[in-house]
Amino acid sequence: MSELAYQPDYDAAPVVARLSGARKRYGENTVLDNVDFTVRKGECVALVGPSGTGKTTLLRLLAGLESVSGGRTEVTQNTSVVFQEPRLIQALRVWKNVLLDDAHKPDAKARARVALQDVGLEDKLESWPVSLSGGQAQRVAVARALYRSPELMLLDEPFSALDAFTRRSMQSLVLKLWAKYRFGLVIVTHDLDEALILADRIVILSKGRICHETRVDMPRERDVTSPEFNALKRDLLKQFSLSLS
Ligand SMILES: Nc1ncnc2c1ncn2[C@@H]1O[C@H](COP(=O)(O)OP(=O)(O)OP(=O)(O)O)[C@@H](O)[C@H]1O
Ligand SMILES: [Mg+2]
Repeated sequence: MSELAYQPDYDAAPVVARLSGARKRYGENTVLDNVDFTVRKGECVALVGPSGTGKTTLLRLLAGLESVSGGRTEVTQNTSVVFQEPRLIQALRVWKNVLLDDAHKPDAKARARVALQDVGLEDKLESWPVSLSGGQAQRVAVARALYRSPELMLLDEPFSALDAFTRRSMQSLVLKLWAKYRFGLVIVTHDLDEALILADRIVILSKGRICHETRVDMPRERDVTSPEFNALKRDLLKQFSLSLS
């Protein structure tokens, strides 16, 4: 059985992130309201929903970049985030962009090489960020996240700026890495195909609340042309429309 086909018993896996009755307010604006959200080790959850509905805010709570206004957060310390844009430091070579503050540590460069190998960019170790394509730059951002051996990986629309072909290859890369390392994965995306290709569970957030959740039990790798895939997509689109009303 291939690594991708393996389906763990998620309910038995340890929790790597949990929000319980989480609220987030900015002044008078309640952005998240009573959100219960759990991610287990080795599970891939896609978070979808209309713009401005609180997806990035939820991810920032999980990443510890924001604190809740009410409710509880329990998240593993060992969390990595990849944002929509790669956020590379132009003045640092690729390998130092992977390591950041660890660049001075013994063996650090060798470890950066391993992370870059994982994303297929070992040959760019000494390159400058300006010489990379958009997809390559985002791979470096993924290598930077991987280098920290996360138990929880958070991806906020990481491929939305890429063309359709590059996006598809990045989705395959994420699946490969997830199958290899089995971190918990939360991906925010506007692309329902992407959610259905990647996720074990899809959560729809609307107006700061979770309004729908569905398990995706199709074996990987998933065939986007299959009737099962398209039936699930139709159902999700229906739920998505309902969430807007
Ligand atoms: N630091 C902040 N201060 C005040 N309001 C904020 C802050 N961050 C987010 N918001 C507000 O919270 C709401 C949710 O924003 P968030 O970025 O979480 O939405 P989103 O679902 O990620 O949207 P998109 O799909 O467009 O990325 C918005 O109304 C936004 O204006
Ligand atoms: Mg967002």
